[in-house]
Amino acid sequence: MSDMAIHFYDLHPPTADLKQEVLQGLTRQPRRLSPKLFYDRRGSELFEAITHTPEYYPTRTELGLFERYGSEMAKLLGRDGLLVELGSGSSRKIRLLLDALRPAAYMPVDISRDFLLDAANELAAEFPAIAVHALCADYSRGLELPWCPEELPRAAFFPGSSIGNFEPAEARQLLGHVARALGPGGQLLIGVDLQKDPDVLNAAYNDGEGLTAAFNLNLLARINRELQADFVLDAFHHHAFYNGAEGRMEMHLISAKSQWVEVAGSHFQFATGEGIHTENSYKYTIEGFHKLAAAAGFVPVQVWTDKDDLFSVHCLRVV
Ligand code: AVI
Repeated sequence: MSDMAIHFYDLHPPTADLKQEVLQGLTRQPRRLSPKLFYDRRGSELFEAITHTPEYYPTRTELGLFERYGSEMAKLLGRDGLLVELGSGSSRKIRLLLDALRPAAYMPVDISRDFLLDAANELAAEFPAIAVHALCADYSRGLELPWCPEELPRAAFFPGSSIGNFEPAEARQLLGHVARALGPGGQLLIGVDLQKDPDVLNAAYNDGEGLTAAFNLNLLARINRELQADFVLDAFHHHAFYNGAEGRMEMHLISAKSQWVEVAGSHFQFATGEGIHTENSYKYTIEGFHKLAAAAGFVPVQVWTDKDDLFSVHCLRVV
């Protein structure tokens, strides 16, 4: 399948942004790197592998909800519109929905260019009647649709509880961008991980195969590759735990010894046990998420959960 079958809009931020972001994050105390930096090609592959581990329940639980309630969801969203997918990544979920929804056009939006192009081309081949407009962009900074004919009703799809990787204030801002891009009456189908037994959560972010650890450490490998840095991966370890007071999983990379690291010409000293905070993954209650969505201009239409109340999928409408 050639890339000619899809339309492609490249709004990927320049590498200078990566350098600035990493240097700033490593300078902060405590040190902090954004989880969106995980998703280079290797990181996206590792995340995909995590979703198949027995411990990581969100993906299979959400897929189960799409399988079971997909036609109901599609009926609410309506056919023949423009469907925008945020953070498209793997296409397992959208496939289920495209089958039922048959939109006129599909716009996957992702920061990982290679992964986005592969997935968009595959879907274009599989669904030739759907116009595929792939947008490579960092949607956390705002969402401008480069192609959106007035006559097409708009819906957005944001699966995987990626919303949980934003701080609540940022999540509200992001949902506000989505609401503005969709316009009044536009609908959002969004997957949101639920609060639950911390043992289940801790296991999901500390899988036995070590894939989550590799995913976390790949951030350092990426910085080495792209920013001429010299992180020694063996000298850091993965640390993930549930922070009950904040209602979130946290991931950190902990320095195993006292060491200096050079990144793009700057030098950083790490003490033994000092960490880089790499990810928060917020877990919501249904009511808590409805409150957040309301603050961004959405009203709840419908919510689906599995029998163990592990995960939720919400249909929301822009007021
Ligand atoms: C993409 N995101 C919703 C995942 C999560 O669960 O927060 C990323 C992830 N981090 C560790 N495992 C998976």
